[in-house]
Amino acid sequence: MKVLVTGSSGLVGSEAVEHFDRQGHEVLGVDNNMRRVFFGPAGDTLWNLERLKGATKRFTHADVDIRDRAAIEELIRTRRFDLIVHCAAQPSHDKARDIPLLDFEVNALGTVNLLEATRQHSPEAVVSQHQQGLWRRTE
Ligand SMILES: NC(=O)c1ccc[n+]([C@@H]2O[C@H](COP(=O)([O-])OP(=O)(O)OC[C@H]3O[C@@H](n4cnc5c(N)ncnc54)[C@H](O)[C@@H]3O)[C@@H](O)[C@H]2O)c1
Repeated sequence: MKVLVTGSSGLVGSEAVEHFDRQGHEVLGVDNNMRRVFFGPAGDTLWNLERLKGATKRFTHADVDIRDRAAIEELIRTRRFDLIVHCAAQPSHDKARDIPLLDFEVNALGTVNLLEATRQHSPEAVVSQHQQGLWRRTE
């Protein structure tokens, strides 16, 4: 199975990467290290990306911003994933109060970019969205 995990260097996404890699699936992770933008140097996720590269067999990574509609569209059109696990996010409710527009662009617009590209180019794919405390499964 071809799996796309967004937010693959984050807490939830990196667990998903390891899980599906262990099961023998081909996993592409998308993460642009935006956690560092939100939380400063302490939020840098590059260490986790490096750890994943060493701990997995079939994992590859793409430094793509989910707000970039054209890039997300290209990725999904050309790679045709079977499963999309969406974990890229600005995860802090407190932080959202200070950066409402950026929060909206990542959490809402980024999600719509992903869903619309999937609807257009990979309608058979299963999408799991892990955001703001909710699991949603769209088929
Ligand atoms: N951690 C939890 O216990 C928990 C519980 C319930 C729900 N959630 C939800 O799951 C989601 C992920 O949470 P987390 O704890 O893994 O957060 P996290 O900050 O550890 O991971 C999010 C990842 O997304 C990446 N990212 C952010 N903006 C991006 C963008 N524009 N393009 C590409 N990548 C981007 C970040 O660099 C980061 O690595 C959030 O929506 C959160 O609300 C988390």
